[in-house]
Amino acid sequence: MTGSIRHLYFHIPFCPKLCPYCSFYVETGSQNKNAAFIDALLADVRRAGEEYDLRPKTIYFGGGTPSALREEQLERLLGGLRELLDFSEVEEVSLEANPATVKPSKARLLQAHGVTRVSLGVQSWDDALLKTLGRVHTAATAEETYHTLREAGIPAVNLDLMFSVPGQTAAQWHATLAKTIALGPDHISTYCLTYEEDTEYFRKLTGGTFVQDIEHDAQLFEDTMATLAAAGFEQYEISNHARPGCESRHNRAYWLGADYLGFGPSAYSTVGLRRWEAVRDTAEYTRRALAGERTSETREELTEPQRIGEIAAFRIRMSDGIPRAELAPWAEDLAKFEKLGLLENHGANLRLTTHGKMLADSVAEIFVA
Ligand SMILES: C[S@@+](CC[C@H](N)C(=O)[O-])C[C@H]1O[C@@H](n2cnc3c(N)ncnc32)[C@H](O)[C@@H]1O
Ligand code: SF4
Repeated sequence: MTGSIRHLYFHIPFCPKLCPYCSFYVETGSQNKNAAFIDALLADVRRAGEEYDLRPKTIYFGGGTPSALREEQLERLLGGLRELLDFSEVEEVSLEANPATVKPSKARLLQAHGVTRVSLGVQSWDDALLKTLGRVHTAATAEETYHTLREAGIPAVNLDLMFSVPGQTAAQWHATLAKTIALGPDHISTYCLTYEEDTEYFRKLTGGTFVQDIEHDAQLFEDTMATLAAAGFEQYEISNHARPGCESRHNRAYWLGADYLGFGPSAYSTVGLRRWEAVRDTAEYTRRALAGERTSETREELTEPQRIGEIAAFRIRMSDGIPRAELAPWAEDLAKFEKLGLLENHGANLRLTTHGKMLADSVAEIFVA
């Protein structure tokens, strides 16, 4: 048995509709055909518990759209985990939600079952852009859902936003930021649209229907940092802004290189230098888990320098940066970035400057080259 596993991830692959920019492993349509899926997740946790000491501090339900599960499914999953796991040290239970899928009774159920943090995929407060993004909800639905979560007493709410969406003007983005701040969430994630391979958006980009404007994107990112900082949010990671004390503990642990186990199709696990991915097929995942078989499909043994580099690539995106003493293998490249004004001292740490944050990918690349 290895050391305790403190962080658990659950991939819930169901979505009301496939968004044209999304590359996560998801399925659309009714999850009736996967009625046994929750039992499979629980069986997989039970099996993992025979191999690892599961003492979670954070639990994260992502996807896909965990909020798309029906109330009785959520109840079975959350209740079942409490029977299987020791919850005495759990500090945070997060769940991702699409605004179209949360009614007041579901929000109350989540609260009653110990969900402490809901991450709501708002993306934009502009109905025309929501249409461009192929979202199933309007801005009004998203606002109503935000209030529903608050009224149900969910302790912390995060709002996900996307910028550099095709056709999005600076004025539209500024209005979305202002509206978000006015609602008073605890946390705001601001993602620059990524054109992921094998998506409709990627095909439109390579086909010339969409055009990227890097300078426009950089300006929106700079505006984001200034606006959210002025509103009292700390940018503790490139895309994540929190009120003091409201950072995502789960994501922070992940970026700092803690071990974690993932359950559900396509979920990754990393323990020490071992990494594996569960099979990317819901029916097959369900079959294997219920048969008591391993659900992993691919396995990888990382080298120590590889894992250290990978963690550095995550940590450099965080506001504290990295202790200089840990950066010796990359000193030469980092000195060049420092000269260019992309990195600066922060006590004994090296961290990105504001300008550096806009070029974070180029800096992070040296750690994983
Ligand atoms: C896995 S989704 C979970 C939330 C829920 N499924 C939804 O979309 O409302 C997490 C977030 O990732 C972001 N996201 C997904 N695809 C992206 C892409 N290609 N580029 C940038 N952000 C993306 C969106 O902001 C989304 O809310
Ligand atoms: S963005 Fe969210 S709702 Fe849309 S397909 Fe991806 S996971 Fe599903």
